[in-house]
Amino acid sequence: MMVCEYKPGLEGIPAAQSSISYVDGQKGILEYRGIRIEELAEKSTFLETAYLLIWGELPSKQELQAFEHEVLHHRRIKYRIRDMMKCFPESGHPMDALQASAAALGLFYSLRDLHNPAYIRDSVVRLIATIPTMVAAFQLMRKGNDPVRPRDDLDYSANFLYMLNEQEPDPLAARIFDICLILQVEHTMNASTFSARVTASTLTDPYAVVASAVGTLGGPLHGGANEEVIQMLEEIGSVENVRPYVEDRLQRKAKIMGCGHRVYKVKDPRATILQSLAEQLFEKFGHDKFYDIALEVERVVEEKLGSKGIFPNVDFYSGLVYRKMGIPTDLFTPIFAIARVAGWLAHWKEQLAENRIFRPTQIYNGAHEVRYLPIDQR
Ligand SMILES: CC(C)(COP(=O)(O)OP(=O)(O)OC[C@H]1O[C@@H](n2cnc3c(N)ncnc32)[C@H](O)[C@@H]1OP(=O)(O)O)[C@@H](O)C(=O)NCCC(=O)NCCS
Repeated sequence: MMVCEYKPGLEGIPAAQSSISYVDGQKGILEYRGIRIEELAEKSTFLETAYLLIWGELPSKQELQAFEHEVLHHRRIKYRIRDMMKCFPESGHPMDALQASAAALGLFYSLRDLHNPAYIRDSVVRLIATIPTMVAAFQLMRKGNDPVRPRDDLDYSANFLYMLNEQEPDPLAARIFDICLILQVEHTMNASTFSARVTASTLTDPYAVVASAVGTLGGPLHGGANEEVIQMLEEIGSVENVRPYVEDRLQRKAKIMGCGHRVYKVKDPRATILQSLAEQLFEKFGHDKFYDIALEVERVVEEKLGSKGIFPNVDFYSGLVYRKMGIPTDLFTPIFAIARVAGWLAHWKEQLAENRIFRPTQIYNGAHEVRYLPIDQR
């Protein structure tokens, strides 16, 4: 019998063969289907990048137009889903609302035809199109307002910001938001992607796949760190407080949020791009003093922890970008999900192409041959 070493968290154990994305943590490189993230952030759109990830190649002009058109026409949600969401408690976390809503889609589209490319495409389009509508709808409903309908004259990101804020966004803000989605769409075998692949391997429907991944993304060790960066910057309050704050935390062996990464041992390439996006926003819409605090945190962390390979990660500057757009902190993770759904679906499709159900083993460390003790003798 093969003896396997137990690795908590499956650290370093390959769970799949994948050609979707690649990370070089020493050099700070992230590629989607072989294309560097910097190039996609500069030249692509979220929907084009989603297409690239899911179907493996950049679309032709006609293919992209057709995909954009299909997504545009599937952005509305059924009134029964809206009515169901109206019953959610206002105090509930938007990630829980999103998980429940994504799962509910499966009730309406219960046909499961996993070998049919048309079914795969319809499901991809429906999920990418409706997840932003559901996030925006819950945001308005919890404020006591009716959700607004998507606007057909606005592109994917501009329409989401419109549905969220009930006003047409500034074009720079909409473009920057779209780039943020490109940066968050995919990142190799992380916890939520693994969760999506495990669920997919049972050959269930894609709504269950996405709902399980949303549930996994919600935890503070995964998608929730960007919220905590903003809380940390608020707590620090001023540039002068940064050094004592960092020193105090390090002394207490506490982490500096938004810094460090299991794979990257240099500054996360997504953090570098997000930082420049934040600067563009501040130039147009006014400075944010939290940015000065963040810069000082980065300086002090580099001085104290750079030798350990700890630098800002994707979450360090993304919160500052979303904050400047007026997005509430508890929507940062649902927005991460809006982006990541395309990555999960790329993995769903890849998993189906060569499926074997996930069924790992365990190392049993419990008792044997224990006798059943009648209840009156316990
Ligand atoms: C992301 C993260 C979980 C990666 O963890 P990991 O690869 O398991 O690394 P470890 O937590 O084992 O850390 C290794 C060492 O670096 C230190 N370290 C790692 N991240 C640190 C941080 N953000 N602040 C201070 N010290 C940190 C650890 O204390 C540990 O030090 P030690 O060797 O003296 O014990 C970790 O860096 C972290 O918790 N960061 C903050 C939360 C965050 O931003 N999460 C979002 C990730 S995208």
